[in-house]
Amino acid sequence: MKKADILVLDFGSQYTQLIARRLREQGVYAEILPFNVSLTDIRAKEPKGIILSGGPASVYATDAYFCDKGVFDLDLPILGICYGMQLMAHYYKATVAPAGHKEYGKASIQIKKDSDLFKNLPKKQTVWMSHSDKVENLPQGFEVLATSENSPFCVFGNEEKKFFALQFHPEVQHSEFGKNILKNFAKYACNCESVWNMGSFAKTQAEKIREEVKNDKVLCAVSGGVDSSVVAALLASAIKDQVIVVFVDNGLLRSGEKEQVQFMFKNTLGIDLISIDASEIFLNRLANVTDPEQKRKIIGNTFIEVFEEEAKKHKDVKYLAQGTLYTDIIESSVIGASKTIKSHHNVGGLPEKMNLKLIEPLKEIFKDEVRTLGLELGLNKEVVYRHPFPGPGLAIRIMGEVNSTNLDLLRKADTILLEELRSTGWYDKTWQAFCVLLNVKSVGVMGDNRTYDNAICIRVVDASDGMTATFSHLPYEVLENISRRIINEVAGINRVVYDISSKPPATIEWE
Ligand code: XMP
Repeated sequence: MKKADILVLDFGSQYTQLIARRLREQGVYAEILPFNVSLTDIRAKEPKGIILSGGPASVYATDAYFCDKGVFDLDLPILGICYGMQLMAHYYKATVAPAGHKEYGKASIQIKKDSDLFKNLPKKQTVWMSHSDKVENLPQGFEVLATSENSPFCVFGNEEKKFFALQFHPEVQHSEFGKNILKNFAKYACNCESVWNMGSFAKTQAEKIREEVKNDKVLCAVSGGVDSSVVAALLASAIKDQVIVVFVDNGLLRSGEKEQVQFMFKNTLGIDLISIDASEIFLNRLANVTDPEQKRKIIGNTFIEVFEEEAKKHKDVKYLAQGTLYTDIIESSVIGASKTIKSHHNVGGLPEKMNLKLIEPLKEIFKDEVRTLGLELGLNKEVVYRHPFPGPGLAIRIMGEVNSTNLDLLRKADTILLEELRSTGWYDKTWQAFCVLLNVKSVGVMGDNRTYDNAICIRVVDASDGMTATFSHLPYEVLENISRRIINEVAGINRVVYDISSKPPATIEWE
C-alpha cells in the first residue's frame, strides 16, 4: 500500500481535491479518501496528519456525514476545514447551529494567538468563507487562535493534540495565505518534509506496480490520449516485458485517429501496440440507444469484454491498467460524498464483475499533473499536450442515435475544426476542441435551393484540470472560417453554432 503524508477525508466539498493539490504543489504528498474510510485503511497509509474537508451537510442533520470517531484518537494532528471544523466542534461538545446569516466570499481574520498554523504569517489576513452553519462556543480543550468580524471562533485549536479548525477555506486562491496555512500544518504540526515531486511520484508508482504485479502480466489499454500514454510509459519503465499494450478501435474514433496512435506508439514511445478492431460490436450495441448514461455504460462494459477476450490470448495476464484520473473518479462519484455527474467510461461505466484486476496509477492526480509526469517520463510534447479525448469517443458528441451516417458527418466537421485550430495556432492555446452533432435540423438556402439539414455545434474550452472550464474566446475570423468551411465542405450540414457556456453549470462534453 502506498503511503501518504497527509490524508484528506472527503465530506463532499467541491474543493476537497484542491486541498490535496495545494499540498502536493508544495512538496507534501496528500491523498483523498472517503469520509467513512475505516481506521485500518487509514493506518495502512501511515499518514503524518489528517485533514477533514468541507462538505454540504450539517452536523446536526439526520443525514450528516460522520467519520469513524476513532479518527480523533489516532494520535495524529488533525485540521478541520469548514464542515470538518464543525465536526470537530461537535465531537468536542460545542454547539453547531445555523448561522444568523450565511457567509460567502471574502472576510478578514485577525490572528489572536501564535500557533503552528500561522507561523511567519501576518496577523491580519483575507480569507474566503462559504458556510451556512457556525460554531457557537469553544469546544472543550480548545482555544481561540483567530477571529473574524462574524465569528469569535473563526479558528480554534488545541496545540497539545495538534488539532486545528478553520471556518474558512484555505485551499481556494482567494484565501490570501491559505496555501501557507496548509503548508504550516503539514510542516510544523505534522513534521512533513517537502520532498515530494513528480519524479518521486513516478518512482513510488513504479515500485507499487512491481510489488503488486510480481511476475504476472498487465494489459494496458491506450487511447492515444495523454493519460493512457503516460500509464503505458510508467508501466514500461516499471515492468517493460510484462506489459501488453492494446488499442481498441471502437468505431467511435475521430478520422485518422487509429493510424496516428499506431504511428505515435511505435515511433515516439517505442512500444509495439496490439490493435483490435471492435467497431462492429460497439456500434451494434449502441444502435437505437439515445440515453447518455446508457451509452456510457454500454461502452464501458464492452471495452472490458474486449480487453478480457484479448487477455485470454496471452499467458498470465491478471491486470488491466487504465489512465483514470482523479477528475474521472470525482465526477463518477466513486469516492466521498459528491454527486454523480457522469459515469466516466473507465470508472462508473465498468461492469460489476471483472476478471482482470485494475491498476490505475493516475487516479489521485489531475490532468495538468499527468502532463508534468509525462514530461518527467520522457514523453514528447506532442503527446503530452494533446487535447483530451473521452473514452466513449464520438458517441457522447452525437445527441441521439449513434450510427454510421451521424459518425461520418461529425468526423468530417471535426477534421475541419482541428485543421483550422492547428493552422491558426489556437489548438495549443486551448484545452479541448470538438464538434457536437446536435440532432437538430434547420432550414437553409444554398444556391437558390432550400436546404433542411443538420446543425453542428463547436465546443472549444479553456481549462486547467477539466473540473471547471470557460469557453475559449476565439477570434470571430477563426470562427467564421471554421463555419464557412464546414458548411461548404460537409454535405448534410447547413448551420454551425458556437457553445458559449462555462463549466459549471454546463459540462465540457454534451453527454
Ligand atoms: P465533462 O464533460 O465531464 O468533461 O465536463 C471533463 C473532461 O473529461 C473528459 N471526459 C472523459 N474522459 N472518459 C474519459 O476518458 C470519459 O468517460 C469522459 N467523459 C468526459 C472530457 O472530454 C473533458 O476533457
